[in-house]
Amino acid sequence: MTNQVKIFDTTLRDGEQALSASLSAKEKLQIAQALERLGVDIIEAGFPVSSPGDFKSVQMIAKEIKNSTVAGLSRALPADIDACGEALKVAEQFRIHTFIATSEIHVSNKLKKSQDDVVDMAVAAVKRARNYTDDVEFSCEDAGRTEIGYLARMVEAVIAAGATTVNIPDTVGYTTPTEFGGIIRQLFERVPNIDKATISVHCHNDLGLAVANSLAAIENGARQVECTINGIGERAGNSSLEEIAMILQTRQAMLGFETNINSKEISRTSKLVSQLCNMPVQANKAIVGANAFSHSSGIHQDGVLKAQNTYEIMTPESVGINKNNLNMTSRSGRHVIKHRLQELGYKDTDYDLEAIYAAFLNLADKKGQVYDYDLEALLFFDQQKHDQ
Ligand code: KIV
Ligand code: ZN
Repeated sequence: MTNQVKIFDTTLRDGEQALSASLSAKEKLQIAQALERLGVDIIEAGFPVSSPGDFKSVQMIAKEIKNSTVAGLSRALPADIDACGEALKVAEQFRIHTFIATSEIHVSNKLKKSQDDVVDMAVAAVKRARNYTDDVEFSCEDAGRTEIGYLARMVEAVIAAGATTVNIPDTVGYTTPTEFGGIIRQLFERVPNIDKATISVHCHNDLGLAVANSLAAIENGARQVECTINGIGERAGNSSLEEIAMILQTRQAMLGFETNINSKEISRTSKLVSQLCNMPVQANKAIVGANAFSHSSGIHQDGVLKAQNTYEIMTPESVGINKNNLNMTSRSGRHVIKHRLQELGYKDTDYDLEAIYAAFLNLADKKGQVYDYDLEALLFFDQQKHDQ
């Protein structure tokens, strides 16, 4: 089995559907271009049958994007699949992604169909999609709560019908990593034709486990992960792309997996998505939060000044951030102040460190965070005192 994990980004579909106001076609294209630069393998551009606007933006993205496969979502219904095929056919490489729910809760309460009927609909949808392309993905919606025997039957049937990727979503973010990893392992044990398709996962974050569940799935044989930038998506969101990519990169020696992600594009892409979607990123968010490479306590600041890896497991440069940030607060030591003044162009002989540090602590106790201009003002007043 390959150690290459495909990254399928659904920021423009699952992510966008959770926004209070939709993105314009131009904004969607801007995000798609950023995802292409980031090295995403598959960009899910939208749900073409859902509105004429979505159809047009999927078509526009399909025309412009050359280095990533462009996918569109469709229910397992002929009109949806045809709309997808029509919108995507201008693309260099495209994928039709069709889905139907498989859990008993959805099958009986939402679809109001028998399990046999649902299998028939899934098989027919995959066959119809294959008339447009060889690249067909089928998703078993709410797979995380689907009885394993029925799930295995569905996976086998859609692969036999021509699905080249089969996605196992934890649609409501209900499973735990051991449980979700076990579902993937059992599918490999039970489905005889499973090696004819790539097994994908799509985890929601309702219990904060989307990334952990995706990782457990990869360790049990999944080779595609569906995720979004900044983890945006329905309710508590989807697996966050930047976290998955940096887990696989930072722990490559232990885990042994590769992706095509150019991690240096992560910060820029995260900022673009946050701005266009009007979704601020929490400061302590892993990888892309404002504090992800900030150090506050004196002990940590001293450590990173001596050796960066004391408190950083990846470099800020590796995700496209120029450098880490040492917050100047009352918890900072003399060495941080000296280091910052050096960076600002001052020589040790330009000031009296003890006097500046005492003034700094006094100010930090009053205002919390001390900025470069505060430090320079302290230096200025200190010099004035000496000149008098
Ligand atoms: O969460 C989900 O199950 C989905 C499918 C349509 C893949 O978004
Ligand atoms: Zn989803």
